[in-house]
Amino acid sequence: MILALETSCDDTCAALITPDGAIRANVISSQGVHGRYGGVVPEVASRHHLELIGAVVEDALRTAGCELSDAELVAVTCGPGLVGALLVGVSTAKALAAAHQLPLAPVDHLHGHIAAGLLAPDPFEPPFLGLIASGGHTLLARVTDCGPRFQVIGQTLDDAAGEAFDKGARLLGLGYPGGAALERLAVDGDPSAFDFPVARKVPGLDFSFAGLKTALLYRVRELGEAETDRCRADLAASYQEAIVEALVFRVERGLLQTGLGRLAVGGGVAANGPLRERLSALGVELDVPPRELCTDNAAMIASAARFVEPVPYPDYLELDVYATGERGLAA
Ligand code: KG4
Ligand code: ZN
Repeated sequence: MILALETSCDDTCAALITPDGAIRANVISSQGVHGRYGGVVPEVASRHHLELIGAVVEDALRTAGCELSDAELVAVTCGPGLVGALLVGVSTAKALAAAHQLPLAPVDHLHGHIAAGLLAPDPFEPPFLGLIASGGHTLLARVTDCGPRFQVIGQTLDDAAGEAFDKGARLLGLGYPGGAALERLAVDGDPSAFDFPVARKVPGLDFSFAGLKTALLYRVRELGEAETDRCRADLAASYQEAIVEALVFRVERGLLQTGLGRLAVGGGVAANGPLRERLSALGVELDVPPRELCTDNAAMIASAARFVEPVPYPDYLELDVYATGERGLAA
């Protein structure tokens, strides 16, 4: 059994999986507290992780019907993410592993999102083009094996796709995080009511969402409060359409450039219905994990740990975390 912890942002997560990738427990405790600030407050996130992590691990063990002594490996997200938040997970993982003299697997969060698709019952094996679209990251990767050394071939030059959803949602008076709420609001809207920019001119496989967010801001100002209120669903639908189009446009280009005929998608934005529909229509072999494995979770970290060199006891006691943008990805 592999026990994994994930605390890189505002979800306190613990999971247990078998070495062949069957999920025995996948506990996610989302910290609703950040909504009132309109975004994640790092120090608040760290303190909540500290309060929750013990109960979340216990819950995972109970759900899986096992004890800590049944774990053969402990895995944990070391970065990228919020340093204080990551430290809670890493310190807890070190303590749990050291208590039983178990090895510890340090996992990269993005490798985790890619490895979500490698879980049982239908593992989606490389090679494939990987799209990760979350609140912190948006990138395309050429994935040729299951390990952490995937090649990033495109990434966002400014905001992440999830961030674009969250900022748009905020402008439309929805809570944080706003992706799912914006999707719900858009159901009753017309995606062609407003024309938002898709940044097709950005060369290569990189993404850009900052212009889109600004376009919505100006449009909302232009319409005024009453009219914005009347058009909220149309604005949401058109804005969502632009984000989805920007993602699908780069994915198509990436498939063409790499010659890879298979696509795996991960990250919170992969939970988005219209995006899933558009990607399904591309006609390539597609893997989109269930929604609870797209957003942050520890089962994906346990999955990635199977393809990471474990650090033996007690060498990992020195192990450190890394912040978003602090360490370049593998290649
Ligand atoms: O992967 P994730 O849980 O955390 C990060 O690593 O960032 O992604 C969270 C992001 C948030 O920006 C959230 O608004 C977005 O994913 N998201 C969605 C949906 N569900 C979550 N965006 C669009 N549509 C959704 N249904
Ligand atoms: Zn994530």
